[in-house]
Amino acid sequence: MKVAKTVEEIRRIIADARADGAGSVGLVPTMGALHEGHYSLINAARCECDFVVVSIFVNPTQFGPNGDYREYPRSIEDDLAGCETHGADAVFVPSVDEMYPAGFATTVGVAGLAESMEGRCRPGHFDGVCTVVAKLFSIVAPDVAYFGAKDYQQAAVIKRMAIDLDLPLRIVVCPTVREPDGMAMSSRNAYLDDEQRAQAAALSESLHLAERLVREGKRNAAEVIEGVRSLLGEKAPLGEIDYVAVIEPDSLEAVEIIERDVVIVLAVRFPSARLIDNMRVDVPKASR
Ligand code: PAJ
Repeated sequence: MKVAKTVEEIRRIIADARADGAGSVGLVPTMGALHEGHYSLINAARCECDFVVVSIFVNPTQFGPNGDYREYPRSIEDDLAGCETHGADAVFVPSVDEMYPAGFATTVGVAGLAESMEGRCRPGHFDGVCTVVAKLFSIVAPDVAYFGAKDYQQAAVIKRMAIDLDLPLRIVVCPTVREPDGMAMSSRNAYLDDEQRAQAAALSESLHLAERLVREGKRNAAEVIEGVRSLLGEKAPLGEIDYVAVIEPDSLEAVEIIERDVVIVLAVRFPSARLIDNMRVDVPKASR
């Protein structure tokens, strides 16, 4: 496995791989502190692509002024070992100066989709994400890029960006990998103490409740949201709810009456970490 720190190095490595016959290059963008969620993306890339590139870059521009950029977990040695074990061919680990050299002045932004939910709670976040992901796409020129459904809105925003900018690649969104108690894996889970961690299981539990309510025939989104909020209030009293929403899977627009498949999304602020989760709920045609 090759490790590159500069744009020039990773471009050379990929050009060599293509010259050696690699027909497809897969990219898995990450901020490191890798866990099974990230590894599932690498596995998917490994299954589908000839050459697999993982990027590890804690991107300062997607953190807010009071965000956790400085504290964000960093474990580069373990991450490199994990990438190797999971069959990555190359890892791109640029410095901040390499990605944002003096004079850097361009921002990529997606209107509409990026303005609700995470965009509203974290102003500027998606501009940072889109800018760095657009740069990674330009540097690596992958045929396929892999993202997790865990960050549902992020994946939707990036798909939109790729379409709008005519980027010649396919975006694959892989399912959320969860802990045995249902908690979505996240690098930020490491911030939680035992009490918060135990309460955080209520996030996925509340999504299952929402799914059950819809399956049982509840069609009024406000009632489903109320069910989720009251479960969270009861089982995760340390968490403050940023939002709970029932949205249309592609437009991300809020749904009032549930007549088709929807995604239930939520964000909860615990004292030591802000957590997000979501679940797609299919509404069987017969019961629409
Ligand atoms: P990061 O949080 O490191 O996540 C990297 C990728 O792993 C994202 O596509 C995310 O959705 C996916 N992922 C995280 N937890 C997951 C889980 N439990 N199951 C499945 N996939 C999971 O998201 C980012 O980094 C950054 O915003 C990035 C896209 C790299 C741009 O800086």
